[in-house]
Amino acid sequence: MRKKVILITGASGEIGVALVRALAGRTDKLLLTLDLHALPAEVHSLTTHVEGSILDEHLLARLVSEYEFDTIYHLAALLSTRGEYTPEIAHRVNVEGTLALLKLAADQSQWRGRPVQFIFPSSIAVYGLPDLQRKAEFSRVREWDWNYPTTMYGCNKQYCEMLGTYYSRHYRQLAAERPVMLDFRSVRFPGLISAFTVPSGGTSDYGPEMLHAAAKGEPYACFVRQDTQIPFMAMPDAVTALLDLAAAPRQTLSRLVYNVTSFSLTATEFRQRVLQAFPAAEITFEPDSRRQGIVDSWPADLEDKAARRDWGWQPQYDVARAFDEYLLPNIRSRYAVVI
Ligand code: SER
Repeated sequence: MRKKVILITGASGEIGVALVRALAGRTDKLLLTLDLHALPAEVHSLTTHVEGSILDEHLLARLVSEYEFDTIYHLAALLSTRGEYTPEIAHRVNVEGTLALLKLAADQSQWRGRPVQFIFPSSIAVYGLPDLQRKAEFSRVREWDWNYPTTMYGCNKQYCEMLGTYYSRHYRQLAAERPVMLDFRSVRFPGLISAFTVPSGGTSDYGPEMLHAAAKGEPYACFVRQDTQIPFMAMPDAVTALLDLAAAPRQTLSRLVYNVTSFSLTATEFRQRVLQAFPAAEITFEPDSRRQGIVDSWPADLEDKAARRDWGWQPQYDVARAFDEYLLPNIRSRYAVVI
């Protein structure tokens, strides 16, 4: 008998650790986590962890022989800045890795006769506005607007949204008599900010980096211009979005891919919030033209009406609560121990 589990890939990453914690408190199901890296010690007891790659076919085959996946949260990815240094590797991880997992989930759905749920975080990086004028004009983009990504990561995320849709609607329609499709659902996240981890390889990272550097008493040179605006979200809301989307009855979903967001800030406004909390912080601006180009193509805000209507999406942390009740208290106590 295979053991039924919830699989979380990329579990040692920013979203992963927070998701493992939240899932462990919400479900009786066993958690199986997969990541290239070890998990932080504080979540060890909550999951069976496998260190390895989503690109390792033998490893995936071994996991399939041992486990039945009820739900897969597929978080593993190379982010937007990192992906521009090694675009083909990003493609391999972000697309081929996702394809392997989608196929595995689609096949499991067929043999067990019940859909495997596949939850996929997508990103604002799927948008590509051509210039700042258009960015100002179309400030709150809908899911189907401006889907012209400029980064390899954005292209990969957009294509994987399509692959997920394919596997949940058309896969083996001709081959199988009564195909049971997997249940693919995706949210497009804005820049995420965690009090506990600093992201790596992303382009929205200037927000969290600025904040963590200030809390550690380190100077920070922000790699985008003062006026740069993109949407952000506090990590607890990101986790809630994944869990709530997974919990929504299938018939209430009018789409497979939803925008979600919380608040939009310019880099200057972000700096002001950080300075209010850490008045001695040294935060300067040294824009990097390539990274600036990426965020300039991302929308200033997201339209998330569909998520609100269909599955009751409602962020708990607006900008004031995100800083005052989640980020600052946790970051202060985190670095107070270290300093
Ligand atoms: N935070 C991601 C990045 O910056 C976007 O999804 O790449």
